[in-house]
Amino acid sequence: MKLNSRFVVLILYYCVTLTLQDNPEGDQVLQLISSAGFQGEAHYTETDDGYELKIHRIVPKIHNGREPVILMHGLLATAADFLITGPDIAIAYLLSNNGYDVYLGNSRGNKYSTKHRIYTTDSTEYWRYSWHEIGYFDLAAITDYVLKKTTAQKLDFIAFSQGTTSLLVLLSSRPEYNSKIRQAHLMAPPAFRKKLPKSQVVFSVLKFLDRHNDEIRFWDLKRLFRIGKNISKTICRDNDLLSFRLCKFLILSVFSTDNRRELEIETKVLPHLINYMSPRVSVMQLTHYYQNMIANKFRQFDYKDKNFQHYNSTTPPDYNLSKITAPVYLYHAGNDRFISEEGVAYLRSLLPNVQEYRVISNWSHIDFVYSKYSRDVLYNNILHALLAVSY
Ligand SMILES: *[C@@H]1O[C@H](CO)[C@@H](O)[C@H](O)[C@H]1NC(C)=O
Ligand SMILES: *[C@@H]1O[C@H](CO)[C@@H](O)[C@H](O)[C@H]1NC(C)=O
Ligand SMILES: *[C@@H]1O[C@H](CO)[C@@H](O)[C@H](O)[C@H]1NC(C)=O
Ligand SMILES: *[C@@H]1O[C@H](CO)[C@@H](O)[C@H](O)[C@H]1NC(C)=O
Repeated sequence: MKLNSRFVVLILYYCVTLTLQDNPEGDQVLQLISSAGFQGEAHYTETDDGYELKIHRIVPKIHNGREPVILMHGLLATAADFLITGPDIAIAYLLSNNGYDVYLGNSRGNKYSTKHRIYTTDSTEYWRYSWHEIGYFDLAAITDYVLKKTTAQKLDFIAFSQGTTSLLVLLSSRPEYNSKIRQAHLMAPPAFRKKLPKSQVVFSVLKFLDRHNDEIRFWDLKRLFRIGKNISKTICRDNDLLSFRLCKFLILSVFSTDNRRELEIETKVLPHLINYMSPRVSVMQLTHYYQNMIANKFRQFDYKDKNFQHYNSTTPPDYNLSKITAPVYLYHAGNDRFISEEGVAYLRSLLPNVQEYRVISNWSHIDFVYSKYSRDVLYNNILHALLAVSY
């Protein structure tokens, strides 16, 4: 199966009309934390542009004075990214067991951060943001909240995928935040792509969305998720070898460049992954990536004929990566379908303070958060780096 047909199938699924009832669920992140044997808390902060964000915290069991650490999730995801694989694997628990005060951010628009001072999520105004605003406003607000709450001078930051893009936005556009970050660990950082996707269908969809940014403000993938949930419940079970192979093939085809390899996701976790995702996304989050891909630049959102109003210039300004003076650690997955090694290497060449650059050759995009081997392959190294520099 080619990527083309896969996406056509996905879009067709999305177009299937179903009557859905929202069944309100409790806070799954707090449930995950408590079922792992830890104590969770919910904190709230408001951004300068009026979004209320929920921040999850794992209360430290030991108090040895380590500084706080913020974990920031990727696109269509939540704080659960760093908890799903459970207490023996997930990085949030590893850090907590080592005395860190772990805070898990939730970006605007994800299912935990849906409030705004004025707008509701039904209004188009609410969805007028890309990962630029998530970096510029949300990550700033979360950082300030955590520093104030803990009275720490600095904190560590660990981000995945879109979380890393937003962190690069924050540290380049508000350079004063560099002195608040002791170490920034970026897993699968999408900034420069340097290699275009092969699928024309994906391209066409993104191009269409980019042209209609003003009309289509957000996508609600709830329906698609509902179907995906049923499919994964049915086929992603290891009691039927054939259907499990199909499940593995589908997941690897979306996220990996090599769909014959082993799936490193624990089979007991697999059927539940979709439950923990967040179905709504601002279209600008997608088209901002698309625009950068086409321009082969890492720059602000292209408002086209309205650029002048936003930037006093006909083209969007580049993010000035040489302003990122905080120590950065970069991790790239060799089989990542969304990010190329050239792209990350180029990012590395533009960042002035890269402490480590590592390519995990046989990993795919999602292995950073879902691989059952992630402690051995990566998390223990991150912990080691965090512990190495005292403050
Ligand atoms: C998913 O399965 C449930 C029962 O398990 C069913 O009620 C629902 O209609 C199914 N939804 C879809 C989209 O297939
Ligand atoms: C990746 O490589 C490591 C070490 O060579 C191996 O243990 C692991 O099984 C490989 N993973 C996959 C998905 O092939
Ligand atoms: C806009 O740019 C022009 C020329 O680059 C400059 O003279 C002017 O001061 C700028 N205006 C604002 C509001 O920044
Ligand atoms: C980018 O930032 C560096 C460091 O502050 C500065 O020297 C340089 O002039 C900036 N470049 C642009 C294009 O603004």
